[in-house]
Amino acid sequence: MKLGIDFGTTHTVAALTDQGNFPVVNFSSPEGDWFDYFPSLIAVNGTQVKFGFEAYQVLDNPNWTLVRSVKSLLKHIGQNEVLEIEGHRYGIKKLLIDFFSAFKEALSNASSLDLGTEPISASVAVPANTNNTQRFVTQDAFTGGGFDLINVLNEPSAATMEYTRHFFRAVGLSPKRFLLVYDLGGGTFDASVAEIHDHYHQIIATQGIEDLGGDQFDQVLAEMVMDAAGIAGPLSYAERVSLLEMAREKKESLTPHSKSLLFEWAPKGQAPQVIRIEVKDYLTLCEPLVDRTLAVTEALIERVSGKRGIEGLEDFTAVYLVGGMANFPLVARKLKQLYGQHKVKKSHHAKSSVAIGLAILGDSSFEDLVLKESLTRHFGLWREGDKGESLVFDLLFEKDQPLPAKNEPPLVLRRRYRPSHNIGVFRFQECGALEEGRPTGLVTVWRQINCPFDPQLLGQDLGDLEVTRTQEPLDFEVEELYSLNHQGEISFTVINHWNGHAQTFQLSRMSAIQ
Ligand SMILES: Nc1ncnc2c1ncn2[C@@H]1O[C@H](COP(=O)(O)OP(=O)(O)OP(=O)(O)O)[C@@H](O)[C@H]1O
Ligand SMILES: [Mg+2]
Repeated sequence: MKLGIDFGTTHTVAALTDQGNFPVVNFSSPEGDWFDYFPSLIAVNGTQVKFGFEAYQVLDNPNWTLVRSVKSLLKHIGQNEVLEIEGHRYGIKKLLIDFFSAFKEALSNASSLDLGTEPISASVAVPANTNNTQRFVTQDAFTGGGFDLINVLNEPSAATMEYTRHFFRAVGLSPKRFLLVYDLGGGTFDASVAEIHDHYHQIIATQGIEDLGGDQFDQVLAEMVMDAAGIAGPLSYAERVSLLEMAREKKESLTPHSKSLLFEWAPKGQAPQVIRIEVKDYLTLCEPLVDRTLAVTEALIERVSGKRGIEGLEDFTAVYLVGGMANFPLVARKLKQLYGQHKVKKSHHAKSSVAIGLAILGDSSFEDLVLKESLTRHFGLWREGDKGESLVFDLLFEKDQPLPAKNEPPLVLRRRYRPSHNIGVFRFQECGALEEGRPTGLVTVWRQINCPFDPQLLGQDLGDLEVTRTQEPLDFEVEELYSLNHQGEISFTVINHWNGHAQTFQLSRMSAIQ
């Protein structure tokens, strides 16, 4: 059975690939209600852990602590891989694997699917801004949870496929068009520009904000409630989570005509009080959050202007709104003010657009369907310049570099030179932006790789050997070979032309470079 699975900050959504149809999977909660998602929640109590709906059930149980966004745990990967709650330590990678096992269990036993013992092939997505480490930890967690992965896409790229299916099918295949996808979810914002021509989809550029989503809008509302209740001091972890959940539910109940939101809240063990929040005031405080997404969208349009025949907004067929926050009245309102009433289209399946797009891509009957991603981050390494006097960032693959399609060979880049060191030291970095040629923004530093250049060191354990510079370059060449595949994965080979000795490294994850 083939599924598209969108592991979101708030919701994990699955859509089935079913002979040209892509129904969203429904899940049954322990109370017997149906939902078109599985909550991305974990609750912990000492050594016990609950996932999804079962975690939601213990929201108000003081013995349990809810981890509100499983996906946001990924942001800690690479720094601190342990989550500490009330004296207990939980390995984040294990929590993620166990979450996906529980999700698979729910697909088998508490969903609208008739799965039996059939294995699941899954197409999955990650936020466009995700660094390579988070990307691979996500993949490992899916695999560890029992899924067979067939595609890994960027979230807005999957939404592009959903757009094509629902909008182009109605009007038939069309001349070349550009689409801007605006995806505001629970924890992240992504925007991307795609060129669409018949069955061909090329992602041209992507930009996002790693930590802006519905959670931040809940936070604003929770703070208003605390202010109105006259609660100044910090809440306990459990009280905070419970208030944020209440804020999320109230936020989701908003309609364009809502005037006020009523909270019945019992802060810090006090008697319950009814707190009234004026929607107008709430929206005013949310405006800067929406404005940040608009600034990114504007910067993205500016960045693609001049590329592939795009001159400005008029070349876009639509600004396509997806993600649960597309339902938040202020979002559509502000986008329409900026881009015009008719340019802005909202997905019929805002919360499921990514999962449906993934399910479409998994449909082998759409053989002529092509999706080409682009690289979402710059990738390069630091090299010595001026005979060791300075450090220079050598940009190997630039952000927005179009990637090959799935069935095309990888892109290959070579560097060949006479080395000036006994040992080659490779310090790779990826980043969201460059300033005067140096990485800035969200920078990911890769574990350093050392390779022998001096022929006497070939095949030896380099251990703590000192890296030394030679007076003159050595009298043979070494070659670096970088190969970039359709998913943006990079493999790196160093060939020592003294004897042809070659070593290959899969630049896939910080903790497990072989
Ligand atoms: N009707 C609604 N009105 C307002 N907000 C809504 C509504 N429905 C969902 N949301 C909000 O949308 C967010 C979830 O959106 P979505 O399901 O697209 O996120 P996600 O895919 O889980 O997260 P992400 O893509 O950021 O990892 C939550 O903050 C939720 O409260
Ligand atoms: Mg999402």
